[in-house]
Amino acid sequence: MATPHISAEPGDFAETVLMPGDPLRAKVIADNYLEDVKAVTDTRNMLGFTGRYGDTPVSVMGSGMGIPSMSIYAFELYTQYNVEKIIRVGTCGGISPTVKVRDIIVAMGASTDSSVNRTRLAGDDFAAIADYDLLESTVAAARAAGVAPRVGNVFSSELFYNPRANFFETLKSHGILAVEMEAAGLYGVAAETGKRAVSVLTVSDHVVTGTSTSADERQNSFHEMMQVALEAAANAH
Ligand code: HPA
Repeated sequence: MATPHISAEPGDFAETVLMPGDPLRAKVIADNYLEDVKAVTDTRNMLGFTGRYGDTPVSVMGSGMGIPSMSIYAFELYTQYNVEKIIRVGTCGGISPTVKVRDIIVAMGASTDSSVNRTRLAGDDFAAIADYDLLESTVAAARAAGVAPRVGNVFSSELFYNPRANFFETLKSHGILAVEMEAAGLYGVAAETGKRAVSVLTVSDHVVTGTSTSADERQNSFHEMMQVALEAAANAH
């Protein structure tokens, strides 16, 4: 049965779903990286597809931007479509001086100014973390592809345009690698539903140094990130 936000039939999604923020990017991924692709949902134009990567059935669907949007789709995929693993494939803004644009970051943990995980724990803090096996498969896939991934804590921000004074400096001084807007939400939903998640991110811009990537560079690092995520999807047990 369809859910409020997903029009797919039961069985339409693979056990593993890759989630970029942009639904049109989900279509690009399906068209370029998967075989035997079938469109499975288009509610609100949040496109989703299922196909095959080698022998592994893989789905890809947009998450939208921000924790609320990601949380709706992840919850419905996990609880209504038997999805076991979600791999977010997105971009982030570099925070740490050790991070460069085009780097690939695997979000081992996700700090946040969102209250969603505190809501789940009735006010207590929750360490939003990736599934360890999935994290390990992702890091192994990156190394096998000749990519040296950065693995650590990211910050899932509620506000892209954040007025807080010294916001980035504070994150930097606490070892945060990068800022994005979904990982802490995804990890919270995975924990609540007993499922698994990891986030793989390319650094599209550096919010402290002000550097950014060209369209060509963005395309290359996107390709690297997709190789990593798809190999992780194929190899994760
Ligand atoms: N902030 C939040 N999310 C992002 C950014 C950023 O600077 N860059 C890419 N995703």
